[in-house]
Amino acid sequence: MEEALSSKFYITTPIYYVNDIPHIGHAYTTIIVDALARFHRLLGQEVFFLTGTDEHGQKIEQAAAKKGKNPKEYVDEISKRFKDIWESFGISYDKFIRTTDSYHIQTAQKAFLKMYQRGDIYKGEYEGNYCISCEAFFTKSQLIEGGRCPDCKKETTLVKEESYFFKLSAYQERLLEFYKQHSDFIFPKSRYNEVIRFIEDGLEDLSITRTSFDWGVKLPSEIANKDSKKHIMYVWLDALINYLSALGYENESDDKMEFWPVNYHIVGKDILRFHAIYWLAFLMSLELPLPRHIAAHGWWTKDGAKMSKSVGNVVNPQEIVNAYGLDCFRYFILREVSFGQDGDFSQKALIERINADLSNDLGNLLNRLLGMSAKYFNNHLRVDIQAFKAHYKEELESIHKILMGLELLMQEVQIHRYLEELWKIFALANGMIAKKEPWRLVKEDKMQEVAELLVFIANLLIKAAFCLSPCMPKTAKEILDVFNIPLESKHYLEFIKNNQIISEMVLMPIMALFPKIETPLLEEKQIKTQHFITKEEFSKIEIKVGTILGAEIMPKSEKLLKLQVDLGEERERQIIAGIKSYYTTQELIGKQVCVLANLKPAKLMGELSEGMILAVSDDDGLSLIQPQAIKKNGSQIS
Ligand code: MSP
Repeated sequence: MEEALSSKFYITTPIYYVNDIPHIGHAYTTIIVDALARFHRLLGQEVFFLTGTDEHGQKIEQAAAKKGKNPKEYVDEISKRFKDIWESFGISYDKFIRTTDSYHIQTAQKAFLKMYQRGDIYKGEYEGNYCISCEAFFTKSQLIEGGRCPDCKKETTLVKEESYFFKLSAYQERLLEFYKQHSDFIFPKSRYNEVIRFIEDGLEDLSITRTSFDWGVKLPSEIANKDSKKHIMYVWLDALINYLSALGYENESDDKMEFWPVNYHIVGKDILRFHAIYWLAFLMSLELPLPRHIAAHGWWTKDGAKMSKSVGNVVNPQEIVNAYGLDCFRYFILREVSFGQDGDFSQKALIERINADLSNDLGNLLNRLLGMSAKYFNNHLRVDIQAFKAHYKEELESIHKILMGLELLMQEVQIHRYLEELWKIFALANGMIAKKEPWRLVKEDKMQEVAELLVFIANLLIKAAFCLSPCMPKTAKEILDVFNIPLESKHYLEFIKNNQIISEMVLMPIMALFPKIETPLLEEKQIKTQHFITKEEFSKIEIKVGTILGAEIMPKSEKLLKLQVDLGEERERQIIAGIKSYYTTQELIGKQVCVLANLKPAKLMGELSEGMILAVSDDDGLSLIQPQAIKKNGSQIS
């Protein structure tokens, strides 16, 4: 799939939701993009690397409310945390976009208007389920058991509201045709069929506006003025358009549309569908060229478990970097998993990689070179280039072959394979040292042979450092500093593409890279531990099924609702529940719920509460616990 190099190269991360602070998943996507951007800069291309934050939508509005902040104040704060962490990680982005930026809002409105004027947007009524966590609509048939979201498995909300629709169905054939002709559009290639299947299953028109909350981009005035309802744009439409706003498409900011079409959108597998289907259809409607590639990576777990704030096992990339160093972290996440597969983070796996690959294979090699050069040659190496090339012909050829294969691996976003191949070079060098036994050569006074071996290792390390630089920029620079070679594209081209060899050099010693790590450097966070109870203790708890017959707002309270619940007893019970932010009173009536029935009655804000409604909450909000099928009121949970 060798592609002709154009001088412009555009690459993007997803824009991150600001309902959460940066975690390892965000760092992973961003570091992949950073590595690709650096690689293409080395090739001499003009790179535009875009990242940013996705700041509208119901999820963010709720997250702000939960913190008692107004949405703008809240998004400013979290967006800054993303910007700060990328800066501290030296992420080489060219632009950080925020969907609350005015130039983005201009583009989103213009794009909406264009699609509308083209006849691709019409008004209707949406009735279906919405998953706030995924910010996605689902039809009844797409939902899984209990009306839950097929993607994140969380509870969905029934939405019935006036909405504008995008004629996605009209693009089904064009999308299929496009994919049939571009089988290498998606990396890894294994995800291609998944996308095709989704399209073949049938595309329904997409609801692209909401009226039940405010935190979003307003419709263009040309449409809004004709409308009595207050519509805002669906957050995914707003978000995807960021890739164009950043280039100044239909807005007042600098025009950089010469970077379009984008070379790679890098996304997590969970959001591939939005990019591979909706985004392409929007672009077709806007009559713009389509992206060149979309690459979808897998998900990280922690010690085998899904990360979640409530469990307390979310990996904070800043802590890892502070303890182990930025390049070790970058190497680990890029090397540990095959691109596209899920990966597991543990300090044990990280330490193993550092000790084996970085300390043993790479760090030791450099140390041995520096040690022997200092001891036997006072840091000045010089050999006859013709003789050297003749003696090391075979080895130099195999190295060149490995290096020439790397570009294709990067193009296919197989970064783990890229690093794996690169490490073959270090294995070759370490193997040469074992084979030649330079300490024996020294005893036999064959100093020219020793010098040639060291020059060989030096050339190999220089070449490897250039190729390593996209993944481990700091380490690569440290290695190249030993030889006083700047980390610049023109030198990359000389050493890698033109296979330049140097036969004389003065080495500048440096401290050993990657000392071995014996024990974990970070204390494991206290994961919420099990607290066991006996069956007898459990039998004291009476949890019963009941139906909510009445629900009222308590005027003085922001959180509480007053509920009347039928627990199969002579009279209904009054229960006060803190669920006002998550359910409307109307929604609650008729719902069957689980109630802790023998909780000592208490007064809450002056009202008697005779039990507790059971619910579960996580980062995305709260959901009531319900029996899977309707049960007789008063049935006890055992
Ligand atoms: N805002 C949308 C993207 C809009 S792009 C036009 C979004 N944001 S997100 O913050 O929820 O996720 C951003 C990226 O982080 C996604 O690519 C997602 O796959 C990735 N990750 C979030 N958690 C992750 C892991 N645990 N592991 C790996 N990546 C995961 O979706």
